[in-house]
Amino acid sequence: MPAAGRGERLGAGIPKQYLPLLGRPMLEWSLAPFLADAACRGVVVVAAAGDIHWSALRARLSRPVREAVGGATRADSVASGLAALRAARAGDDDWVLVHDAARPCVTAAEIDALRAAVGADPQAAGGLLALPLADTLKRGDAAHGALRSAGTLSRESLWRALTPQMFRLGALQRALEAAARDGRSPTDEAQALEWQGLAPRLVAGEATNLKVTTQADVTLAEAILAARGAVAARPAAVSGVRP
Ligand code: CTP
Ligand code: MG
Repeated sequence: MPAAGRGERLGAGIPKQYLPLLGRPMLEWSLAPFLADAACRGVVVVAAAGDIHWSALRARLSRPVREAVGGATRADSVASGLAALRAARAGDDDWVLVHDAARPCVTAAEIDALRAAVGADPQAAGGLLALPLADTLKRGDAAHGALRSAGTLSRESLWRALTPQMFRLGALQRALEAAARDGRSPTDEAQALEWQGLAPRLVAGEATNLKVTTQADVTLAEAILAARGAVAARPAAVSGVRP
C-alpha cells in the first residue's frame, strides 16, 4: 500500500492518509479489508521517510504489517514496497495487489471480484478495478481569456482506473524497472505493464471507491463509511432485537 504521498492538493497540514474519518485515520480504513482477508498473506505499507504518524498506527493494527520507505513518485514508492515483499521471500509468480492509501472506501467484494476475474484469466497480465466514465467529457480551452468548452470527447471505451491493481510480483517489478530505465514514471501500475505491450484486465469496481484528493472527497468518504455503519446496524433495529 503506497502511503508516502504528501497530500498537497488537500493541504490539510498532515498527509491526507492520516486524516481522521469517523475518528480513525484514513490509512486504517484503507488497510482494513486486506488485513481481514485470509487470502492476503502479507501487507506492506510504504511510508515516507520521516513519517511521524505511521509507527503509532502500525502498533494497533490487527496483524503484523511490514513497512518500506517511500520515494519521490508513487511508482518509486510501489517499487520500494515490492522490494520489501521480495525480502520477505515473495516469489516471481506470487500475486500482489497495490492499493492507494487514499482509497479508504474499497470493499472486500471489490477485492474478491478483482481476484476472481484476474485469477481466471489465462493471459495473466493482471488487472485493475476500473469504472466506465459516466459524464460527458469537455476539452477546456483558456487560450482566449475565459475558460470555455472547446469540444466534446467521446467517452466510449474510456474507464477511470481505480485500485487495487493486481499483478504477478515479477512481472510488475520488471515493468516498473523498465519504465525507470526509460525515464518514465507511470501514474498507475497498469500503465507500466501497458508500456510493455501487455493488456491488464479491466474489472468493474464501485463508484464509492473514490480517491480522496480534496476536502470534498473527505466529506464524501466519511459519508460513505457512515452509511455502511448505518446499514450494518439496521437489521437489528428492524427486527426489534435489543442488544
Ligand atoms: N504516494 C506514495 N508516494 C509518493 C506519492 C504518492 O506512496 N511519492 C501514494 C499516496 O500516499 C496515495 C497514492 O500514492 O496513497 C495516490 O497518490 P495521490 O492521491 O496523488 O496522493 P498524494 O501524492 O499524497 O496527494 P497530492 O498529489 O495531492 O500531493
Ligand atoms: Mg500525488
